[in-house]
Amino acid sequence: MTEAEDRAKIETGRQLFARPVTFLRSVVGLEHLPTDALPEVCFAGRSNVGKSSLINAVCNQKGLARSSNTPGRTRELNYFSVADRIYLVDLPGYGYAKAPKADIARWTALTRAYLRGRAGLRRVFLLIDARHGIKDTDIELMDMLGEAAVTFQIILTKADKLKKGQAEAMLKRTHAQINKRAAAHPVIILTSSEKKTGIDAIRAEIAALALDVNPL
Ligand code: GTP
Ligand code: MG
Repeated sequence: MTEAEDRAKIETGRQLFARPVTFLRSVVGLEHLPTDALPEVCFAGRSNVGKSSLINAVCNQKGLARSSNTPGRTRELNYFSVADRIYLVDLPGYGYAKAPKADIARWTALTRAYLRGRAGLRRVFLLIDARHGIKDTDIELMDMLGEAAVTFQIILTKADKLKKGQAEAMLKRTHAQINKRAAAHPVIILTSSEKKTGIDAIRAEIAALALDVNPL
């Protein structure tokens, strides 16, 4: 992509997210998924990696998705509509969560079934903590997405906790870990919801997926 194309893509992202973003619903069972034909993207990753915070940063609305210090905050599939063009879906995290085992099992099953079988799902943003890198549970998810032929794009989170050199090293290492995976998008986005870095790049990706059929 040329620099001018890059700038145009970022600008389209800015325009899309200047429009209203609204909460649609919390889904606790697959039968409650929206049935209209809007495309969607979801935010997946380990508990506490920063999924809900990133959605808030992307949508520029503090309390839109509920975030928390306690791992296991998000327990449903939370749907947000961006200008009635595309849905953003905030998923429950996997791995460690402060919740009863039966509840964790229920929402993990729901999330897996959703990720494998959702027809309108255009991309999974797979969030990885930039301090820790890819863990075994992330590899399990990437394997599953590969089998289901669902494209995922890695987003490194909490970059504000790292020095520049450390962040670059993590980017390089993560690239090396995913470059043989057919389902992996080749671009990795380094972000901080706290410092609002990388947010414009995510908006641009979402807008490109939302508007490829009907431009704004
Ligand atoms: P679950 O819903 O439990 O799976 O968690 P989540 O992935 O939605 O994480 P959430 O957005 O709730 O954030 C978890 C914690 O990380 C909160 O205390 C946030 O304030 C913190 N956090 C999120 N993003 C950032 C970031 O960019 N920088 C820093 N320093 N902290 C962050
Ligand atoms: Mg959450």
